[in-house]
Amino acid sequence: MKILALVGTNANFSYNRILLQFMKKHFKQMADIEIYEISKLPAFSVDVPLSEQTEVWKLKQKVKAADGVVFSTPEYDHGIPAALKSATEWLSYHTTVLKHKPVMVVGVSYGRQASARSQVQMRQILISPDCDANLLPGNEVLIGGASRVFSKDGRLIDEKMRDNLERCFTNFIEYIQVFENIDEEEVHMSIKRPTISDAYINFPTGRLSLKEVQQIFSTIPFEIDLVDSSDRFAWYSDKPNREHVRSVASLNEPVTECHPPKAVPVVTKIINSFRDGEKDVVTRPLWMNGHRSLIQYYALRDVDGHYLGTIEFTGSVEYILNLFENGGWDKKPDATTGASAHDEGGDQAAAPVADASTGASEADDDPASETAGSPVANEAADEDATTGASESGSVDADDESADATTGASEN
Ligand SMILES: Cc1cc2nc3c(=O)[nH]c(=O)nc-3n(C[C@H](O)[C@H](O)[C@H](O)COP(=O)(O)O)c2cc1C
Repeated sequence: MKILALVGTNANFSYNRILLQFMKKHFKQMADIEIYEISKLPAFSVDVPLSEQTEVWKLKQKVKAADGVVFSTPEYDHGIPAALKSATEWLSYHTTVLKHKPVMVVGVSYGRQASARSQVQMRQILISPDCDANLLPGNEVLIGGASRVFSKDGRLIDEKMRDNLERCFTNFIEYIQVFENIDEEEVHMSIKRPTISDAYINFPTGRLSLKEVQQIFSTIPFEIDLVDSSDRFAWYSDKPNREHVRSVASLNEPVTECHPPKAVPVVTKIINSFRDGEKDVVTRPLWMNGHRSLIQYYALRDVDGHYLGTIEFTGSVEYILNLFENGGWDKKPDATTGASAHDEGGDQAAAPVADASTGASEADDDPASETAGSPVANEAADEDATTGASESGSVDADDESADATTGASEN
């Protein structure tokens, strides 16, 4: 269970922060609590373009990925601090990240009122139409007398308050689980409705079951992502150990929303160049997660050339480059038998292999075909053997930009 906990103040010293730090340790068996400092955020203003707000974007991603969010609020003049109001405005303006998100309000103050009035205000805000969060009624954590109820090492030592906190946090976790169970029930219910199962797709080149399609995408050593023609993140292949970690929470988001702001102009440029028919491919060799990788963006078009979306093809090419660097292509197989010259030396790894599906040898008498081993060789106007798409002028190796589907930076 992943919980994001917002410290509701920008003060350097805060009992509300101490409370969240205590909760993080105390409930570590129940949840993974990440504490977020709202002091990182600028003051909210509708005049500041969202495209310049990287920190706001990061916070929205964290909220999306969390199963629930805890707001810990001090009390300022019988209300929540301006910094917390501002943070909440960022989370409700032109975004739906809080919509139906399970949220919990806690609070600490010095006085006997124990932040009761600011918590009422926080609750009102969270159920406003633009926040539309799921808030459990009651379940109040009111911690007053802040300077007396915490030990010097940050433990909540007031037994009654601690018992109440434990009860309320347990309720909150169960509340989240109820929503997760509802989602599962909906999946089970759909079985009663008409569905397609064990279906087959008759491609012009053969028939595949849906299961086979799914498993092909999970098995091939490259990961694929799709931004559809309306610029929404539509699909990703669920290959294990992906270079770009994706989340279903990002599906259907506008491509501009699911990118860090600094990446948006580059992403938009690539997609527009595909939509306008100016380019078909953009290639980026780069280091990712400590190994050499290749990202290729392709314009997806129908047979009439109409733009359907952008696919991103990402994978480590370390294995291929190692084969190349170890002389895997130095000797050609015998054109008549297909036997590898390396076979004599017993070097299985470097030996060129026959096509596993047809048994055909890859031997090729055209010397030009041997020159395209370099990952950036596609700067030449080579044609892609399967799509025929020209890669001419498509290499964006120096591009410091980010992943076109999610915007994650590889640098
Ligand atoms: C501008 C300002 C207004 C405050 N107003 C209140 C108040 O209305 N009620 C209250 O109990 N404490 C008030 N306080 C005191 C504390 O800020 C408050 O008890 C707070 O919840 C302590 O939390 P913190 O240590 O996380 O900042 C106020 C403090 C400031 C700076």
